[in-house]
Amino acid sequence: MADHWIENHKRDSWRRQAKASGYRARSAFKLKQIQERFGLIRQGDIILDVGCHPGGWAQVATELVGKEGWVIGVDLEACQPVEGSILLVGDITEPHTQERVLHELQGRPLNAVVSDISPNITGKWDMDQAVAMTLVADVFDFSLPLLCKGGSFTSKMFQGVGVEELISAVKPFFSDVRRFSPHASRNSSSEVYLICRNFMPWKARKLAVREDYEKALNLKLSGDDIAEAPDIVTSSFSVRKKKGE
Ligand SMILES: C[S@@+](CC[C@H](N)C(=O)[O-])C[C@H]1O[C@@H](n2cnc3c(N)ncnc32)[C@H](O)[C@@H]1O
Repeated sequence: MADHWIENHKRDSWRRQAKASGYRARSAFKLKQIQERFGLIRQGDIILDVGCHPGGWAQVATELVGKEGWVIGVDLEACQPVEGSILLVGDITEPHTQERVLHELQGRPLNAVVSDISPNITGKWDMDQAVAMTLVADVFDFSLPLLCKGGSFTSKMFQGVGVEELISAVKPFFSDVRRFSPHASRNSSSEVYLICRNFMPWKARKLAVREDYEKALNLKLSGDDIAEAPDIVTSSFSVRKKKGE
């Protein structure tokens, strides 16, 4: 109960700060803290903001890229405009939405992808977490071919099954991949950000993050099944009925 109270209090405090600073969501501070630590976004950059509604990250990203840069955001829900950004409505996994992103880019490479995407929560934790991880893998598959050499990819993840497998699937593409928990999200114990820096496209065998992730996960889960199966014990022991039974 006390933990719950502290959690709500912290959340409210970030919400109040967001309001006072003119940000639409407390999540804006998560991107600010990621930026303070890793300096991923620079003046003049082109940024893809995945899962951008209501626009907190888009506000922070447009401040960081300045007048020379710009931000393309995508979300299932429509956002109020943010000056210096193009905020599209659509499902990032749908070819139609992806074509619209490509159309906006006109062949220009992205300097950074920032994804705060989280699917609708059904309340069934295992299922929600599995859907969220697959979504992250899909975002990697769509956006890595658009990322410039040396670019970065930041993504929200939810701790649980498949995290290690997803990290292994994307590691070959970057010189540095690590988890980071900004202060603004420490109250949510399951949320963590994956920070991938210095994109090196030539290092990876092929670009199929979701395929590699699912293969590794299936292998792990079937391995776990075997490990968890009861040991087969051979015994010559047998039960004899007592006389008269
Ligand atoms: C935590 S919110 C993002 C908050 C945002 N970073 C901000 O600072 O305002 C997660 C968003 O992911 C979006 N989302 C979930 N699935 C999506 C999908 N397939 N395509 C695009 N957006 C999606 C949701 O609509 C939701 O608005």
